[in-house]
Amino acid sequence: MYYIGVDLGTSALKLVMMNSKGELVKSVSKEYPLYFPHSGWSEQKPEDWFIAVKEGLKEIAAGLDDKIGGISFGGQMHGLVILDKDDNVLRPAILWNDGRSTEETDYLNNVIGKEKLSKLTANIAFAGFTAPKILWVKNNEPEIFEKISKIMLPKDYISYMLSGSFATDYSDASGMLLLDVKNKKWSSEMIEICGISENILPKLFESFEVVGNIKPELAKELGLNEDIKIIAGAGDNAAAAIGTGTVGEGACNISLGTSGTIFISSQNFGVDKYNALHSFAHSDGKYHLMGCMLSAASCNKWWMEDILKTKDFSKEQENIDNLGENKVFFLPYLMGERSPHNDPAARGTFIGMSMDTRREDMTLAILEGVTFGLRDSLEVARSLGIEIKKTMICGGGAKSALWKKLVANIMNVEVEVPVSEEGPGFGAAILAAVGCKEYESVEAAAKSIIKIKERIQPDPELVAKYEERYEKFRKIYPALKGIFKEIL
Ligand code: XUL
Repeated sequence: MYYIGVDLGTSALKLVMMNSKGELVKSVSKEYPLYFPHSGWSEQKPEDWFIAVKEGLKEIAAGLDDKIGGISFGGQMHGLVILDKDDNVLRPAILWNDGRSTEETDYLNNVIGKEKLSKLTANIAFAGFTAPKILWVKNNEPEIFEKISKIMLPKDYISYMLSGSFATDYSDASGMLLLDVKNKKWSSEMIEICGISENILPKLFESFEVVGNIKPELAKELGLNEDIKIIAGAGDNAAAAIGTGTVGEGACNISLGTSGTIFISSQNFGVDKYNALHSFAHSDGKYHLMGCMLSAASCNKWWMEDILKTKDFSKEQENIDNLGENKVFFLPYLMGERSPHNDPAARGTFIGMSMDTRREDMTLAILEGVTFGLRDSLEVARSLGIEIKKTMICGGGAKSALWKKLVANIMNVEVEVPVSEEGPGFGAAILAAVGCKEYESVEAAAKSIIKIKERIQPDPELVAKYEERYEKFRKIYPALKGIFKEIL
């Protein structure tokens, strides 16, 4: 039996196929456009996602010698997908890294109040979350708002198109600011605050539960067997955590994808008293805390492809020889920042250049700046008394040996590298296998499947140098905070 994991990312769609032994046997990738209609706005067309999913499924299933048991998902979180009564997509999806809903976010945090939001949902409002975007559509596109008959998250649109079942899972729903995370039910008060009704929200499932079967006509069109089960799936970070074995109490995963996240799994529900970290449900049925940077590997991609005009990322890193001694700093806020600053107006900044600054110094500053930004969230977790001595790592950035070394030394943690970096896709395939009863639980599956191929230890001398540099990095954003709003 085979299981397919669909990673509905922002830069691309990745599908992976896992066999019953938990081995990844095939993967397929498809691209779709990303639109930035204004500075700080970010949109994609759900129809593009589904075309890519159909093409990807056809390709990955071709020439199979066995049946596919189930398909599941790890989806970019928080995106607002809205359909009318005939299931037409009403407008492009407003994505997780879109900062347009500043006014609505301020309204939620300051008029409704952070304390109330935290009580109702375990979280406060961030511009990328779904509820502020619903309010933005209500305030700015009332004629569209009136026609909304279904609200869903990106991966749930794919699941709906494949199965006809209007469903979501607790991990992804946590990022809508509409879920009572602790009690795993929609918050009727939040629903009222957003001016919607519960019947336009999907039915809630655990990530490993079956939501339906593939539609027979689609199975036929795509050359798939007709008894394939569709399993709810998870937000991409909760799926990636499964794909790196981040389950149980206090396990940590760092994802260096388009976004950068630090994910700490927990057996019990808990809220960060500063609400700087998100308090969400995990896809193993438990909970997690998470810090999310809006631009991580995407900073490096921007620097390499758009500015240096190269695709050879590793060549640019080859001659970097001054770890811990770089005088250049980079603030990685190209799309504003979520954790921990919650500031959609923040922007990317190089500082500290002089006439002897080299191209390599600026490249290193990008990788260091993103890692310092992630350390900001790690420090919040440490201030809550959470001890983190080691972390798993995944995402495109984890392909770079240099970047992994920076994570180990800037954070002073042991970095464990799993055999596969396909975090969300792999995790989604595992969720599909659990949904089809191949394993008895998500935790058992992750523990038996995930293997570590490399361990990177921090070097005390480098850790000390980076400690000093981090202290300097932390002073830059507060010094510039006021200016960002003026130069927008
Ligand atoms: C998490 C978040 C991002 C997206 C990226 O809160 O917004 O990690 O899920 O796809």
